[in-house]
Amino acid sequence: MTTTTTPADTTAPGAGRDTVLDASGVTMRFGGLTAVRDVGLHVRAGEILGLIGPNGAGKTTFFNCLTGLYTPTEGVVRYRGTVLPHRSHLVTQAGIARTFQNIRLFANMTVLENVLVGRHTRTSEGLFSALLRGPRFRRAERESEDRAMDLLRFTGLQDKREHLARNLPYGEQRKLEIARALASEPGLLLLDEPTAGMTAGETTATRELVLAIRQQGTAVLVIEHDMRFIFNLCDRVAVLVQGEKLIEGTPETVQNDERVIAAYLGTPFEGEPGEAEAAEVRAAEAHVHDETQVHDETHPREGDED
Ligand SMILES: Nc1ncnc2c1ncn2[C@@H]1O[C@H](COP(=O)(O)OP(=O)(O)OP(=O)(O)O)[C@@H](O)[C@H]1O
Ligand SMILES: [Mg+2]
Repeated sequence: MTTTTTPADTTAPGAGRDTVLDASGVTMRFGGLTAVRDVGLHVRAGEILGLIGPNGAGKTTFFNCLTGLYTPTEGVVRYRGTVLPHRSHLVTQAGIARTFQNIRLFANMTVLENVLVGRHTRTSEGLFSALLRGPRFRRAERESEDRAMDLLRFTGLQDKREHLARNLPYGEQRKLEIARALASEPGLLLLDEPTAGMTAGETTATRELVLAIRQQGTAVLVIEHDMRFIFNLCDRVAVLVQGEKLIEGTPETVQNDERVIAAYLGTPFEGEPGEAEAAEVRAAEAHVHDETQVHDETHPREGDED
């Protein structure tokens, strides 16, 4: 991993010494469509940052710009002060790993093999050493397997090591993607909708997992549509709307911002058709509520009788 730093004056405003990721002025155009427009974002060491926004807001495109899958039309992305190349394997090598919105596993490989593939960027064994399968290679292979098993235990998949990836339930495939990403020993992990399609229990387990990942020293940038998950987990949240960053702040600031609410729900306007009817419903509901309260008074609560 490169540890070279550039002078402080080349980093974006708000970014400091403990900045892991520093993206500035990132723009991505596809022909006439600007999917991401002049977005700046930084992630600090030990931080969990959420990235939210309506469908098509440009969240995944922004991830693709960070991870070298796309070459942004404009803008610069730095990892620990060093400008990243536009090649995904070099970005992984530098220290950024990711999972994908549409799960990308080697379906016909076992769970363990999938994690071993993820370790590939961190093993230094050359081709000849691998072909000859000498003692050095066998030792490296054993170490890789030990490390991969550690990750399977960490993600709760240790009992599935010999299962084919394609036979895992959906929630476990998402976990395996995380285990595989962690195998490259990243300083920053990017998660694109890690709880999509998960049950409530699996979502809670994923929250615990992300907190444990942070505990181990990896910063996390996470895209999610599940607002409860985001606001309960993240230190800060950034909102993308139509390719632009609308706001960035604490979960409390973001969830109370009227522009964010409007972006998700659409802006109500005065005299909207149906407003009179909605007011009648609200009045009727208030009336029912009052009645219920009166009704409750007539029934002693539990424990009141002694
Ligand atoms: N390779 C591409 N070529 C052309 N247009 C693209 C490409 N990738 C994304 N887009 C467009 O860019 C815009 C942003 O898409 P993106 O997938 O980044 O949104 P998103 O915020 O991740 O949405 P979702 O929440 O639905 O995953 C969309 O209008 C999409 O159609
Ligand atoms: Mg997306």
